[in-house]
Amino acid sequence: MTSATLEAWRAQVHTTLASHIDELPAGRLRDAMAYAVLGGGKRLRPLLCLAACVDAGGEHEKALIPACAVELIHCYSLAHDDLPCMDDDDERRGQPSLHKAFDEATALLAGDALQSLAFELLANSTKLAPSQRVRMLGELGEAGGVAGMAGGQMLDLRSHAAEDANLDYLTRTHAMKTGALFRASLRFGLLSSGGEMTLLDAFCTSFALAFQAADDLRDCLGSRAHLGKPTGSDARSGTLTWPRLLGIDAGKAACIEHREACFEQLRQLEFEATHLAEITHLALDIEDLR
Ligand code: IPE
Ligand code: IPE
Ligand code: MG
Ligand code: MG
Ligand code: MG
Repeated sequence: MTSATLEAWRAQVHTTLASHIDELPAGRLRDAMAYAVLGGGKRLRPLLCLAACVDAGGEHEKALIPACAVELIHCYSLAHDDLPCMDDDDERRGQPSLHKAFDEATALLAGDALQSLAFELLANSTKLAPSQRVRMLGELGEAGGVAGMAGGQMLDLRSHAAEDANLDYLTRTHAMKTGALFRASLRFGLLSSGGEMTLLDAFCTSFALAFQAADDLRDCLGSRAHLGKPTGSDARSGTLTWPRLLGIDAGKAACIEHREACFEQLRQLEFEATHLAEITHLALDIEDLR
């Protein structure tokens, strides 16, 4: 993803995450956390948070810690997602997955500690009013929990049964495992700008479905070298995906349809969502899969 502004934001997110991890007590656990967070990643969730804040008229500095908090939850979710008891994938962001570079117990604990750090940073974020922080802490708990990412991961793991192979189950899973953290990012951006928190929820629903459809398609059609993570992982584990449910072509059509819905949602906003449109354009492009 390019554009000078997005690049600058990404660099600032990286520096902020690095400085907070650096402040932690030195040792194997901190090293594992640094490995999981600082080794790469598109930083899509932080970028959505900062873009929502700025597009809605806010100052992006206010959204920086909330953006980092969501990224920490995301990195923890990836570390656990790759474990042998989940997707059993040995590569992530072009490097050995956390449990391969360290060991399973360390990967588990690093994920736990990343989750704690997310809440700690948010609670201590002095750029935000206490009332904003409390609201975000509740949102983050919900987004990562049973009704959000963790609940969605549970649905994902149980999606092998034939009776679950339907569009309703798939969209519910993706709205939770992927959509909940996107929604928290966008809501945090809006809250940081002082705006109405739920304004981008409809956009988020479409964004998450298009994003996960693209991720599922790349698992079938992409290359390990390009993605920096193994392909064929979903087929190996029997996970319910867009291509498995609908086939490749209909999966692509669904991705494009949800992407178009994103742009439509943005057009309906009262403010000019320039940065959100740019991220949508870059993150949901599946031209490489044609
Ligand atoms: C991967 O997310 C996990 C999914 C929800 C599909 P990203 O594709 O945003 O992963 P990174 O952060 O760029 O590595
Ligand atoms: C993971 O979805 C979503 C998370 C909550 C981590 P995937 O299992 O499809 O993500 P990848 O393909 O391993 O990145
Ligand atoms: Mg998974
Ligand atoms: Mg996975
Ligand atoms: Mg995937």
